Amino acid sequence: MQNIIDHVHLSADERRLVILDQRRLPLHREYLVLATADQMYDAVKSLAVRGAPAIGIFAGFAMYVLAQGMPDSRPQFDAAFHKAADYLNSSRPTAVNLNWALQRMKRVVDAAPACAAAQLLPRLKAEAQAILDEDIAMCRAISEHGLALLRDGDGILTHCNAGPIATSRYGTAIGPMILGAQQGRHFRVFADETRPLLQGARLTSWELQNAGIDVTLICDNMASIVMKNGWVQYCFTGCDRVAANGDTANKIGTSGVAILAKHYGIPFYILGPSSTVDLNCPTGADIVIEERDGDEIREKWYAEPMAPEGVKCYNPAFDVTDHALIAGIITEKGICRPPYTESLRALFD
Ligand code: MRU
Repeated sequence: MQNIIDHVHLSADERRLVILDQRRLPLHREYLVLATADQMYDAVKSLAVRGAPAIGIFAGFAMYVLAQGMPDSRPQFDAAFHKAADYLNSSRPTAVNLNWALQRMKRVVDAAPACAAAQLLPRLKAEAQAILDEDIAMCRAISEHGLALLRDGDGILTHCNAGPIATSRYGTAIGPMILGAQQGRHFRVFADETRPLLQGARLTSWELQNAGIDVTLICDNMASIVMKNGWVQYCFTGCDRVAANGDTANKIGTSGVAILAKHYGIPFYILGPSSTVDLNCPTGADIVIEERDGDEIREKWYAEPMAPEGVKCYNPAFDVTDHALIAGIITEKGICRPPYTESLRALFD
């Protein structure tokens, strides 16, 4: 039986991609039906679909849908396929999963130059399905490794959203708590609201509530006090790109959480699948950080703008946590410990 996830799936005729619009959560459960490359590009760029593994899964199925409308003859098909993949890849620069999934889809095409375009379609669908199936297995394994660290009653602080809708199932950073809850374990989770786009408030607290987990929503600037109060035993976050030396890009504000955790002696863990590890990227300095529209800070969510008109904004969507602040990187293959240059290479090279 094929693995299907609700938040990214094919339409019945397989000519369109259907996604849960994450911008409308938690109040509205609305789906977008996407048929063109422009619609797919916009869905990623505007964060209708988001989370590093989820955009990789999305990209796989998107290329299968788009391939059905491409020319039959091979040189033209190949050119159109590469062009569409490069276009989708340009929608967001930081999460490596997008490029990783698109490269996998391109390799299916490049590996069979003599094959008719129509015969490539089942192979492309199978590859997209494999990306999804592998993510489900990886998230489950990551959740098990993370859960093994936790004792009942522990408090875990997380930042942004690395749950089921950011992946396939379970998620990464909150996967251990979701898996634990299914096994009757009890944890307290503190979810940073995650300015400016509120993934923690809108998505993480919603997913954890739905899973019956004790979740407390805090503003980003409250992480220090909950740590000082002794309520946090671990910090777990997801990742968008892990460099070869362990430097890790994740949602803006993650590095601040790691610095606070160091101050209070709380272990800070990154949780992510091998599809997020980029051994070709030497350090965090080589990761491109997406910069977004300043209106997300000035006026989004407010009934009226909350900043003087025209004020200058700096709105990086991600930051890099220095490897020295990371106690471990929890992957599907186990937990990498410092020095990461060796431990990551040993597992993933
Ligand atoms: O801008 P977003 O919402 O796509 O950022 C998402 C994150 O930073 C997540 O923590 C990361 O992608 C990991 S999702 C398992």
